[in-house]
Amino acid sequence: MSSCILRVFLQRAAVLRKAAQQTLSQTRTLPAACVTDSYRHARGINTIASLLRAEEKVTVHFLNRDGKTITAKAPIGESLLDVVVNQELDIDGFGACEGTLACSTCHLIFEEDVYKKLGPITDEEMDMLDLAYGLTDTSRLGCQVCLRKELDGMILRVPDVIADARADSEKESSAPPKV
Ligand code: FES
Repeated sequence: MSSCILRVFLQRAAVLRKAAQQTLSQTRTLPAACVTDSYRHARGINTIASLLRAEEKVTVHFLNRDGKTITAKAPIGESLLDVVVNQELDIDGFGACEGTLACSTCHLIFEEDVYKKLGPITDEEMDMLDLAYGLTDTSRLGCQVCLRKELDGMILRVPDVIADARADSEKESSAPPKV
């Protein structure tokens, strides 16, 4: 009887540990500004302040590869990846790793004055950006940039070519060894 209780207890502890690890792995790559709004919002952990902020929207213009401009209005706190996904914007291949900093398909190019307002870039984002095609001095990853009031009206350029770092590394690992 007591071993049965112990087994149930251990199973529940394992389930709780796994759930905690999943939550941590989902939040680790989100920029802090996004965690406070989009992350809570997605999980229904809204505070009155975040609900009020969510009402405030900013306008973003994406210059797409085909030369067309896609304009979207989105709540402050959302990442640019959220904007593309939530509004189903037609940007081919964007955000393949869903914001886990593993692909660089969310590469975007900013105007210089806007780029300066984006805030610090983490080492992890920098590492992933290094794998992006067409890298510029004002490149960032859309999954790591959160909307703020000062960014209202910004224009972003979608690079002509995207690179999925995961696919590239898979190709390398399955390539025959060089002799
Ligand atoms: S969505 Fe993959 S790195 Fe941003």
